Amino acid sequence: MSRIAYVNGRYVPHADAAVHIEDRGYQFGDGVYEVCEVRDGALIDETRHLARLARSLRELRIRQPMPDAALKVVLRETIRRNRVRDGIVYLQVTRGVARRDHYFPPESVAPSLVVTARSSDRAKVEATAAAGAAVITLPENRWPRVDIKSIGLLPNVLAKQQARDAGAREAWFVDAEGFVTEGGSTNAWIVTAAGAIVTRPADARILRGVTRTTVFDMARELGLTIEERAFSVDEAKAAREAFITAATTIVTSVIAIDGAPVGDGAPGPVARELRRRFHDFAERAGR
Ligand code: PDD
Repeated sequence: MSRIAYVNGRYVPHADAAVHIEDRGYQFGDGVYEVCEVRDGALIDETRHLARLARSLRELRIRQPMPDAALKVVLRETIRRNRVRDGIVYLQVTRGVARRDHYFPPESVAPSLVVTARSSDRAKVEATAAAGAAVITLPENRWPRVDIKSIGLLPNVLAKQQARDAGAREAWFVDAEGFVTEGGSTNAWIVTAAGAIVTRPADARILRGVTRTTVFDMARELGLTIEERAFSVDEAKAAREAFITAATTIVTSVIAIDGAPVGDGAPGPVARELRRRFHDFAERAGR
């Protein structure tokens, strides 16, 4: 089946979808994005993703390309036209097309909006999650505003490729004090020997993951102990369990850190339970 993309007001065949060479996203990485899970045809945690999008845009002083209600229609239509039942929808907003100049373009320049959607094989995704993920650790080298979901992802790209080259799935950035900030495209968590769930506070040094927020709420409702604090690489290596969260991974166990097994080197019961229950707690937006 041919894929369809939404590009600045039109639904076009994916193969022909294009933005102008002077789009500021292309030239400056001057834009933001969101990735939302689609499950059983429903958008997962759409409200939180759109709220974060609005915040990212505000922080960068990029105009909202259209009201949320219209954006929701575009998301649904892109999902529908691509017949995505399980998969992801990707949304990107840039400051628009203008003659290359670092200063913001005139007010008359409209932001660019692109939306794509793609299907994933749920059985394969579950099998990958069941195997768990190995992570490596790397020194944090990103700008101190990674709370903004910017499309400028060069350090993340390099870190994730370094992870792959080392036979791992994710790279955890580690700050100057030895504490884990987050992964290249996921938030980082551990489970202590006492059974407490630990994740770093969502300040400007991490992205406030939507999945993180939902897992947080779920853990609280399930009566688990949550500690919102930074943890070191050593603490993570000695933890009972570790896991990562993102719209693309939901809750996925970390089975090794820098080659050292976490716990017994297999996905642990807390992360598995959080994954199993996740969609009971997440928001499902209908079509
Ligand atoms: N990444 N931290 C970073 C650096 C991320 O890029 C992401 C998401 C997260 C988790 O956020 P959420 O739970 O809202 O997906 C944390 C997306 C999935 C990506 O870049 O593909």
